[in-house]
Amino acid sequence: MRETQHRQRKGESEMGGKRGKQQRQPARPRLRDLSSFVDESDHLPSSAYDPPSHQDKESGASEEEDDPRAEEKWIDGPPSKFELYQRSVQSPKGDISYMQKFFLMYVGGRMPLHLQEDFCGTALLSCEWIRSDPRRTAVGLDLDLEALNWCLEKNLANIGIDGCSRISLFHGNVLKPQEAHLVKQMVEDFGRKGQDITTEVARMNVGSESGKEVCSISSTMKEVGLPGRDIICAFNYSCCCLQRRTDLVMYFKHALHALSKKGGIFVMDVYGGTSAECKLRLKRKFPNFTYVWEQADFDIINRTTRISLHFQLGKKHIIQHAFSYNWRLWSLPEIQDCLEEAGFCSVHFWVRKMPNTNSFGNTAEDTVDQDLKYEELSSFQQQDAWNAYIVGVAN
Ligand SMILES: C[S@@+](CC[C@H](N)C(=O)[O-])C[C@H]1O[C@@H](n2cnc3c(N)ncnc32)[C@H](O)[C@@H]1O
Repeated sequence: MRETQHRQRKGESEMGGKRGKQQRQPARPRLRDLSSFVDESDHLPSSAYDPPSHQDKESGASEEEDDPRAEEKWIDGPPSKFELYQRSVQSPKGDISYMQKFFLMYVGGRMPLHLQEDFCGTALLSCEWIRSDPRRTAVGLDLDLEALNWCLEKNLANIGIDGCSRISLFHGNVLKPQEAHLVKQMVEDFGRKGQDITTEVARMNVGSESGKEVCSISSTMKEVGLPGRDIICAFNYSCCCLQRRTDLVMYFKHALHALSKKGGIFVMDVYGGTSAECKLRLKRKFPNFTYVWEQADFDIINRTTRISLHFQLGKKHIIQHAFSYNWRLWSLPEIQDCLEEAGFCSVHFWVRKMPNTNSFGNTAEDTVDQDLKYEELSSFQQQDAWNAYIVGVAN
């Protein structure tokens, strides 16, 4: 969840395979060659916690000022909270672009093909990963069966039968990944060309008679033969769901174990800044709805807060507490310590200053360039708001 409350730059990924750029790539690019691999100019990663633009300030526009006809604009009725979440806070092309860059910098020698998206929710990132290259596979893992089912019904329909055959979704806890249950089989070929994808996915979920299933519906991750992952990611501050240090280290150990023995990276994100440690309410307007990020009081002893996401569709339709999370706000050095304790060889911080949450004017001081990129840094002075990627390198 991070540019309007979090990140919304959309665009085609240069690494997406559609433009055939990967064919021109040398085996292990030098750093200075990376610009030819990654183009971040069009998109930033997705994020739920992005301070709003000046027009979006809480005190600037109330929910009552929302377009009263907004709900009428939804042709098929109001969208689900998952649809609204994806539109508000996710921009998977940006995340993928950065992940590729990190992989090529810290591992290199091959293209990353196998992704695991932990805390995947509706696995939008995994679906985009699958679309970006026909050789790619993705594994999604989440506790929320409703989100996974929504993915099966909606997101998988957009990646075609071939795409569906390369994605596996697991229902379970990241702290016990081997026990997570498959909710969608990895299949080699589960449909005849042209067959309705939704029907095929639905059949797969109850044990398809058509197609060649690789594993049964009750398979756990342990029983399923998955390739070593090149990249494992945990985005939109998901690691903040783990509140105990022992759990964070255990989770990182599981991630390290699942990475390819040929080398791989773990990538997570976190937000921070002075605005992150107080009560805060931020709004972002979209054409047909308003997204609200609500941050409860911050407990400085436990470093915890409660985050609630609300959606307002016109005057009448409000989805209060569409998503709520009890989070521990981990600091960057705490995360580094835990990654190193889990066995990661090196840890890298990529940081981006975010627009001030409390600035109302348009002065140069409080206006942050929305195109500002993440930079690898070893020191960064405290700001009102920042976002960071943390990259753990396996070997
Ligand atoms: C903030 S959402 C992030 C969703 C998605 N990754 C994104 O980028 O928007 C956190 C997700 O983590 C899941 N989750 C929380 N604790 C978990 C756990 N211990 N194991 C697996 N999933 C968990 C929740 O169900 C939720 O879908």
